[in-house]
Amino acid sequence: MKRLAILASGSGSNAEKIMAHFQNSDKAQIVLVASNKPEAFVLERAKKFDVPTFIFSRKEMDAGVLLEKLREENIDWVILAGFLLKIPVDLTRDFPDRMVNIHPALLPKYGGKGMYGSFVHEAVKAAGDTETGITIHLVNENYDEGRIVFQASTPLTPEDTPETIAEKVHALEHKHFPEVIEGLL
Ligand code: GRF
Repeated sequence: MKRLAILASGSGSNAEKIMAHFQNSDKAQIVLVASNKPEAFVLERAKKFDVPTFIFSRKEMDAGVLLEKLREENIDWVILAGFLLKIPVDLTRDFPDRMVNIHPALLPKYGGKGMYGSFVHEAVKAAGDTETGITIHLVNENYDEGRIVFQASTPLTPEDTPETIAEKVHALEHKHFPEVIEGLL
């Protein structure tokens, strides 16, 4: 049985889908939801699934507190589901090819610094793209540059707004992320 930790900074709708997916799994168990935001809704969602939570500040993470916790909990895989802080290098080194992130666009487009949340969908709209999608990738020392393990796309029309683009992307994320994680384990 693999032990998974989810790191998230916000609403956690992806985290919820992942917790639901593995609830009765014999392959993996979500044993921790960790967040740098004490008010993040993902923490409520974790309670609903009886998953223990852990809150830390950026300073603590940079000082190794999160890494220590992940080691203590014998975590096998780290899932980034809307986690907004840059992961410290020692953490990526502790989980070589065992840390996965979801990005709400078709990398290498719309990746890198500042490209998160609604900024991504606004940029896609401004460029007039006819499709967007999701990218699931392993995490290395550089933002959004780890090996891509999965992409899925969805068509866009000129009527789409950043909000409707976000909805389409979320639907893709919810559909694929849990299964892709399971495939990686
Ligand atoms: C997702 O769109 C994900 O791609 C991005 O952050 C968002 C998190 O959404 N990295 P939620 O908190 O899971 O609803």
